[in-house]
Amino acid sequence: MIQIRDIKKSFGSLEVLKGIDLTIEKGEVVSIVGPSGAGKTTLLQIIGSLDRADSGSVTFGGQDITRLSQRKLADFRNRHIGFVFQFHQLLPEFSALENVMIPALIAGTPRRQAKERALHLLELMGLEDRRDHKPAELSGGEKQRVAVARALVNDPDVILADEPSGSLDTKNKTELHSLFFNLRDKLGQTFVIVTHDETLAALTDRTIHMRDGQIVTDCEQPQAADTPQDMPVVETAAEGEENQEESREEDREESSEKDRENTITETEQTA
Ligand SMILES: Nc1ncnc2c1ncn2[C@@H]1O[C@H](COP(=O)(O)OP(=O)(O)OP(=O)(O)O)[C@@H](O)[C@H]1O
Ligand SMILES: [Mg+2]
Repeated sequence: MIQIRDIKKSFGSLEVLKGIDLTIEKGEVVSIVGPSGAGKTTLLQIIGSLDRADSGSVTFGGQDITRLSQRKLADFRNRHIGFVFQFHQLLPEFSALENVMIPALIAGTPRRQAKERALHLLELMGLEDRRDHKPAELSGGEKQRVAVARALVNDPDVILADEPSGSLDTKNKTELHSLFFNLRDKLGQTFVIVTHDETLAALTDRTIHMRDGQIVTDCEQPQAADTPQDMPVVETAAEGEENQEESREEDREESSEKDRENTITETEQTA
């Protein structure tokens, strides 16, 4: 699904990526590990089109995104890629619900539908009673789960996560990891996760070891992890769409283009 071919990247005279080749299949949870400075974040940012490689290609379902203009790239990223960072990076002025809705509004989803989807995801994360809280009023684990809901709102091809549990305590860390595997099992969600956490890496389907800008090993885990059974049941995207089909028609008519523009403007001002 995602093909990375001969990616090279330097910062000045520092060669950070020295020709990375990697293929990621749909529904895989892939971890990227390696010492500090190995180029893990740089690679993830290039896969996610947040940074450009000096050479090489990144192809999503046959489309070479390294060739897209900045504007098309921003649109592609919004629709196809979800990001989760070490520090949630939620917008402080907005509630949990609004933070989750914003990427959907930017993608042109009518407000009512965006809200329904966001509420559904917050519920899935066990956060329905925190919907109106701003990030400062949420715990670290809650913020990260809001960030995961936000990453999922446009039903992305892949979620790219850079040390997503790096700032969490053991309990929240375990919960977040279970959530990833649950989303993989129930939705077929693809993840690429950069992590220093060996427990998480050991649970993923495949672990890529990087050192000095190169992949040194790419190992499939002998056994996929069992997802803990006490996680909330995840509704499949198809089921969700069926439920939303009726309201979608009405929403199209009252298309809240204005709302969308307002939110985007507010977001830009806040960001
Ligand atoms: N914008 C930049 N300008 C100059 N050098 C950079 C830049 N971004 C990263 N580097 C350098 O590139 C190298 C790889 O950085 P990267 O952030 O990809 O490492 P990493 O594997 O994610 O490390 P860590 O585990 O510490 O997060 C480092 O030596 C870093 O200093
Ligand atoms: Mg890093």
